[in-house]
Amino acid sequence: MNGDTIPRLGLGTYGRTGDEGVAALLKAIEIGYRHLDTAQSYDTEQPVGEAVRRSGLPRGDVFITTKVADTRLDKAQFMPSVRKSLETIGVDQVDLLLIHWPSHRDAVPFEDYMTALVEAQRQGYARLIGVSNFSVALLAKARALIGNGTLATNQVEIHPYLQSPNLVAHARQIGLQLTAYQPLAKGEIGADPVLNRIAGQHGVTVAAVALAFLMGEGHVVIPASGSETNLRANFAALDVSLGEAEMAEIRTLDRGYRRINPEKSPGWDD
Ligand SMILES: NC(=O)c1ccc[n+]([C@@H]2O[C@H](COP(=O)([O-])OP(=O)(O)OC[C@H]3O[C@@H](n4cnc5c(N)ncnc54)[C@H](OP(=O)(O)O)[C@@H]3O)[C@@H](O)[C@H]2O)c1
Repeated sequence: MNGDTIPRLGLGTYGRTGDEGVAALLKAIEIGYRHLDTAQSYDTEQPVGEAVRRSGLPRGDVFITTKVADTRLDKAQFMPSVRKSLETIGVDQVDLLLIHWPSHRDAVPFEDYMTALVEAQRQGYARLIGVSNFSVALLAKARALIGNGTLATNQVEIHPYLQSPNLVAHARQIGLQLTAYQPLAKGEIGADPVLNRIAGQHGVTVAAVALAFLMGEGHVVIPASGSETNLRANFAALDVSLGEAEMAEIRTLDRGYRRINPEKSPGWDD
């Protein structure tokens, strides 16, 4: 694993709780997934750690991301919550630590949790640090505070129906990796006629085409599945190579369709 990069296909672990979750994660590792995305709020930190240990793989072979919940961004809770995450996962360090959501209406001052994030990396709790659900405006604010190149990624909802052209252009300009969550729009892209036609031409699933498209755009993808068939289909995206005409056609599917938009969302400017 390259020290500075995020494996471009990871596994979303939302919903993979308990023993069933551990079994699904072990299956994913067996299939070849080496990047697991968890969060303090998913209840999957323990299953992730357990699956990695049970897999018998060296710790360094699996990239683990976790996220500090927006309810724990204040100075008193931030660092203890990170230490608790490490304890729950059972590791000394995560590969990537994210701010899950920016603090709604600055209930916690931006400077406080961004500097705490940098401090968590300095203390060795995280190899890489990043953010999630940040707008272009918040990324600019972060850069002004902690400098360019400090953040390894911004994890946001991106899929063929929400391609976020402004955010993508900004990220390319500043050299920031985007990570696409809900890359399959929770399965909603499955009936898309254009994706189905392209999938048929390649003899692969619609999901594999969507993921190959997003990786082709330069994004890391973290699809989730509890089914072995779908885990395999999604992993197979690594072997799908789309032509420029196919990429261009899939770009036209963007319709700004956002699935995750809670009240705590920042003003989206993507
Ligand atoms: N940072 C954030 O705020 C944030 C927010 C949301 C999600 N995330 C992360 O992103 C990950 C992925 O998001 P998600 O789980 O919500 O959505 P998703 O990956 O877009 O979709 C998962 C859904 O699609 C189905 N599916 C998966 N592969 C499929 C395939 N090949 N064919 C047909 N259906 C398929 C799954 O069902 P089966 O289980 O039956 O396969 C599941 O219902 C999460 O697990 C989490 O790690 C982060």
